[in-house]
Amino acid sequence: MLRDINRRADASPRQEYYLGVTVDSELIGFARLGFTGIAAGKLGYAVARGYWRRGFATDAVTALVAYGFRELGLHRISAAVGPSNAASISLLENIGMIREGVIRHHVFTNGEWRDSVLYSILGPEWEDSARTTYRAVQSIAP
Ligand SMILES: CC(C)(COP(=O)(O)OP(=O)(O)OC[C@H]1O[C@@H](n2cnc3c(N)ncnc32)[C@H](O)[C@@H]1OP(=O)(O)O)[C@@H](O)C(=O)NCCC(=O)NCCS
Repeated sequence: MLRDINRRADASPRQEYYLGVTVDSELIGFARLGFTGIAAGKLGYAVARGYWRRGFATDAVTALVAYGFRELGLHRISAAVGPSNAASISLLENIGMIREGVIRHHVFTNGEWRDSVLYSILGPEWEDSARTTYRAVQSIAP
């Protein structure tokens, strides 16, 4: 998998960025941002089960979204999530993503068509929320 990711990272033009999450040099998760459409990116992420609920995915996704808007010049970042994936939905809403609606029969897995819920955030919304977070941190800093 890593060899494949490295190969795609060398593609020109580059179509995707990965951020690895490591603990003691062991890879325990990743966040991926793939380009789709005009100045738009789509997120994916996963963390190994033994490391859930420690904020790893939130940190990785937050860093990659910031990179997408600030360094890659994206305007829109989206994520599609299974309607019963509570962890992923919490993560996306916590970082300020807006629920757009349901993509009907979006994926075919385990022998069935399944819906996804589509979330997105736009560059200006991200900058507003980043400023608010920064102000909140400043206001509690000694
Ligand atoms: C979704 C996933 C990446 C979250 O990883 P994580 O490192 O546990 O996430 P965080 O610790 O940053 O927590 C994010 C939010 O999810 C919540 N959460 C984490 N695990 C949860 C669980 N099993 N059930 C319900 N909520 C959960 C956290 O409480 C947090 O929300 P809160 O701050 O409002 O309480 C992880 O569960 C995973 O890899 N799942 C399988 C792959 C997947 O579904 N990827 C997403 C595809 S769109």
